[in-house]
Amino acid sequence: MTSHVTLRRPDDWHLHLRDGAMLRAVAPESARHFGRAIIMPNLVPPVLTGADARAYRDRITAALPAGARFTPLMTLYLTEDTDPADVVAAHREGVITAVKLYPAGATTNSASGVRDFDRVRGVLDAMAEAGVPLCVHGEVTDPDIDIFDREAVFIDRILDPLRRATPGLRVVMEHITTADAADYVRSVEDGLAATITTHHLVINRNHILAGGIRPHYYCLPVAKRESHRLALRAAATAGDARFFLGTDSAPHPDGAKESACGCAGCFTAPHTMSILAHVFEDEGALDRLEGFTSLYGPAFYGLPANDDRLTLVRDDAPLELPAKLMTDDGPVTLFDPGFALHWRVTPN
Ligand code: DOR
Ligand code: ZN
Repeated sequence: MTSHVTLRRPDDWHLHLRDGAMLRAVAPESARHFGRAIIMPNLVPPVLTGADARAYRDRITAALPAGARFTPLMTLYLTEDTDPADVVAAHREGVITAVKLYPAGATTNSASGVRDFDRVRGVLDAMAEAGVPLCVHGEVTDPDIDIFDREAVFIDRILDPLRRATPGLRVVMEHITTADAADYVRSVEDGLAATITTHHLVINRNHILAGGIRPHYYCLPVAKRESHRLALRAAATAGDARFFLGTDSAPHPDGAKESACGCAGCFTAPHTMSILAHVFEDEGALDRLEGFTSLYGPAFYGLPANDDRLTLVRDDAPLELPAKLMTDDGPVTLFDPGFALHWRVTPN
């Protein structure tokens, strides 16, 4: 049995770091293992302008432990009022790496997102021209569409027409949860990729709902049936550069999750690499872990891979992990994969 695996330092191509006390608690968790992360802009209020992104980047950097080598890659939150010139300037100046599209009302803090896609056409055209990638939360918000169908319907109704209307726009379909999305991404040769989270490789919808409701497994897009989880595992472990890691690690204080109307989000940053090594080992694909976590994401974004490395060692004894991260906003429960973890990250 393989006892260790060495990778280029991984990156997280979709991460929620929040702000204030939560930011100070969770930023060191990502910085411990990851070299860079695409930082989601769904703060309250959202990160709307280049100036907002610059200020948020400074707050993140201030929250990192001394000596951390972690680069936050900033995004802007696309609204119907986004100024194309501001986006292009922020990208040219290296302040932002991408722009995030939330359909209005799709998920946590998405109220300022896009309702009428014709109203963002000018920004999308400018982004295509300037080479600014668009990260997409791929769910329709139409209340008549069943929540388990919202991703597949989004591809047909919104994403495919949007891509055809804006040739040259580079698009990342974020946190895909369905075989439909994996198939769609595979149907396009260039300019379209998908991130896959750690938790969607581990849970299906039964984990959320069978035998009692488990709020810490609730996220958006919600986990689908088992056949979709298996399709995601196949995509992630295939060595296909169109699929790479975006954890969507999304901390909420336990009180906000364990509630009559609980928030969406799984907090996976601290032990994501241990879980992924387990998943890839299960699939007989440990040799493909590095592509997924460390090579394909930078290649899509036109960046070099990190030049330092991280080693995972397989211990016989299971890792002892805390169940919760304590923050000044209250405890945050770590995602429980439901199996013992044996892959330990070094240096830690
Ligand atoms: O589960 C999720 N949580 N999905 C999202 O799209 C947003 C995120 C959050 O911000 O909590
Ligand atoms: Zn997210």
